[in-house]
Amino acid sequence: MLPKINPENTQAWKSLNEHFAQNDFDLRTLFQENTDRFQQFSVKKENYLFDFSKNLIDQKAFDLLLQLAEETQLKAAINAMFSGEKINETEKRAVLHTALRDFSDKEILVDGENIKPGIKKVLNHMKAFSEKVISGAHKGFSGKEITDVVNIGIGGSDLGPVMVVSALKHFKTRLNVHFVSNVDGNHMAEVVKNLNPETTLFIVASKTFTTQETMTNANSAKSWFLKAGKEEDVAKHFVALSTNIQAVKAFGIAEENIFEFWDWVGGRYSLWSAIGLSIVLAVGYENFENLLKGAYETDVHFQTADFKENIPVLMGLLGIWYRNFFDASSYAILPYSQYLDRFAAYLQQGDMESNGKSVDRNGEYVTYQTGPIIWGEPGTNGQHAFYQLIHQGTELIPADFIAYVKSCNKVSDHQEKLLANFFAQTEALAFGKSEDEARAELVKEGKSEEEIEKLVKFKTFMGNTPTNSFFINELTPFSLGQLIALYEHKIFVQGVIWNVFSFDQFGVELGKVLAGKILPELTDNEKVSSHDSSTNGLINYFKENK
Ligand code: F6P
Repeated sequence: MLPKINPENTQAWKSLNEHFAQNDFDLRTLFQENTDRFQQFSVKKENYLFDFSKNLIDQKAFDLLLQLAEETQLKAAINAMFSGEKINETEKRAVLHTALRDFSDKEILVDGENIKPGIKKVLNHMKAFSEKVISGAHKGFSGKEITDVVNIGIGGSDLGPVMVVSALKHFKTRLNVHFVSNVDGNHMAEVVKNLNPETTLFIVASKTFTTQETMTNANSAKSWFLKAGKEEDVAKHFVALSTNIQAVKAFGIAEENIFEFWDWVGGRYSLWSAIGLSIVLAVGYENFENLLKGAYETDVHFQTADFKENIPVLMGLLGIWYRNFFDASSYAILPYSQYLDRFAAYLQQGDMESNGKSVDRNGEYVTYQTGPIIWGEPGTNGQHAFYQLIHQGTELIPADFIAYVKSCNKVSDHQEKLLANFFAQTEALAFGKSEDEARAELVKEGKSEEEIEKLVKFKTFMGNTPTNSFFINELTPFSLGQLIALYEHKIFVQGVIWNVFSFDQFGVELGKVLAGKILPELTDNEKVSSHDSSTNGLINYFKENK
């Protein structure tokens, strides 16, 4: 079980409050006073560098944050998760996505049973099946090779694979992998309109196999397919990834086409499980295995590194520092890699569905802030869109910058230009431009005294916006696995300290239930009056105009 400690009652929290009130954490001063700051506040791993020196911390804040981790018993919580304790208490489940990428020989028990052989069996199934599809040995109903794969899923059964398949485009097999998630029929229509049912394989990815969006899309895909193929051909063109074997069989998918996973894999942590089949088909099994190995490397680091240099622990603590002491309500993820174009969207579910909670592990409403809003886009596109607000707006927005030393594609001097922007932005955000510096520039430009006074504030940058930099040697399946797992564990660290349950998601239920009640009301032409006036008005407008 996880400890149930209110972080506000710890000595560290109280001391952090005092320390925060007494200091201004000015990055210019902090860097001037300590020439070793980069050495002191960065961690170098074999294939990447984590630089957290541009954060609004001094040694005392750093020590107090580490003390907070101790007082909230983070170490015991990490052990509880990795050893398979049922830390998802509200759903009475273990949380063992880490077991899916555990390359050690040790057994992992759930209800007294070692889960490792079952994991290996499903991985072997994924390997064998993907090799047949990629090589062309698996044929569609008319004898042609499969050319296109459509993953039908939503949330955790979509976002992880979408993000990874996009990130690893450089490692692509001959298969084209597509994703349909939205129940908006336009999504399915746009994906299948250029596909041939004879050469298309559908993956129905749903942990529960009850999700309305996914089941609706799966049924529509089947109807589309049956216009060309016959019922007995479905086995060659539909496979399912699920924990709910009975429901998959009832849908008409053959037993040998089911890739199983288990209730101890949370949806938003499931890309390492059978849910990763679309990834395997997109990049091949070996690359998928390297993704798992990268995540395992992070898992070992998270379990064994001293908290002072434990990257997920540091990421989590710094996030808490900004959320709870600086009152920063959002956190930006800014990858300087086009391949990571879906990374922020993926982390939105990972982080916000996990820590967007307001009841603590004692069942009481919290009296402090929990998960921030996560958002972001790849740089440099973001620079020409929303960076203005980060540089000169009124909100403090801490950000993670992620970049790669080497580019997968050498295209003239693009990489140097990209990285020049990456270096420049964290420097500009940290150190800004003072009024004096802005004034000196205007003088140099030959502006009059009057013009200078008019413009100087607009040309000033306050700076002191904190950033972490992840500088990774190369984008490979291994390094991507490392990176994803760093964020998974950051989320865990924060959930432990905020004293919330990070692995349930009751917040998505109410809307689902209400949609289920409303759906039958949309089928006739009767005016509805059973809701509030706004909801009635919207429903009736639809009925009048459909
Ligand atoms: O959004 C709620 C949620 O339960 C997510 O946690 C999950 O990833 C998603 O729905 C999809 O669920 P399923 O895989 O069961 O279709």
